[in-house]
Amino acid sequence: MNYTIKLVALAIILTVACGAVWAQFAKPEDAVSYRKAVMQVIGRHFGQMGDVVKERQPYDKDAFESDAKVVAMMARLPWEASLVPGSYDGDTTLKEKALKDRDDFLAAARQFEDASQNLLTAAGSGDQGAIKSRFGATAKSCSVCHKAYRK
Ligand code: HEC
Repeated sequence: MNYTIKLVALAIILTVACGAVWAQFAKPEDAVSYRKAVMQVIGRHFGQMGDVVKERQPYDKDAFESDAKVVAMMARLPWEASLVPGSYDGDTTLKEKALKDRDDFLAAARQFEDASQNLLTAAGSGDQGAIKSRFGATAKSCSVCHKAYRK
């Protein structure tokens, strides 16, 4: 009996907690603008790193590492907003396939998160060879997801 009460309490806590998270995107448009804003920040900082890797800009260890930190941190954010029912029409390039193939979409997201963490580690070491290869692996994870899930 006690155990049942505990389970019910846990279920209520979980429902409230999850509800609070989803309430953040009560309107599908909110989810769209959130995920696009996060992607724009990722794109800006990753682009700056790309300019350095392609030797269009000089390498500055601190600046490069700070861009890598932003990308690695932002990499965790846009996925929940990408799985909101009703957010696949209008001003968005995300296909509804993300919601239908949720596990695959989240696997692609995880791949990118891991790649961006590895890139951050390389940025901290300052090892140019590691930076180049980890940057390449991260860039690949962007395009794998974009190809599969963007219109
Ligand atoms: C797991 C999937 C996934 C990964 C990985 C991913 N993206 Fe995206 N990206 C998206 C989706 C989905 C959109 C479209 C969002 C929308 O239009 O609602 C998007 C849109 C964008 C946009 C356009 C934003 C806008 O305003 O329309 C940029 C820029 C971008 N991504 C950059 C990147 C870069 C750079 C990386 C890698 C460093 C990356 N993305 C990795 C899913 C991903």
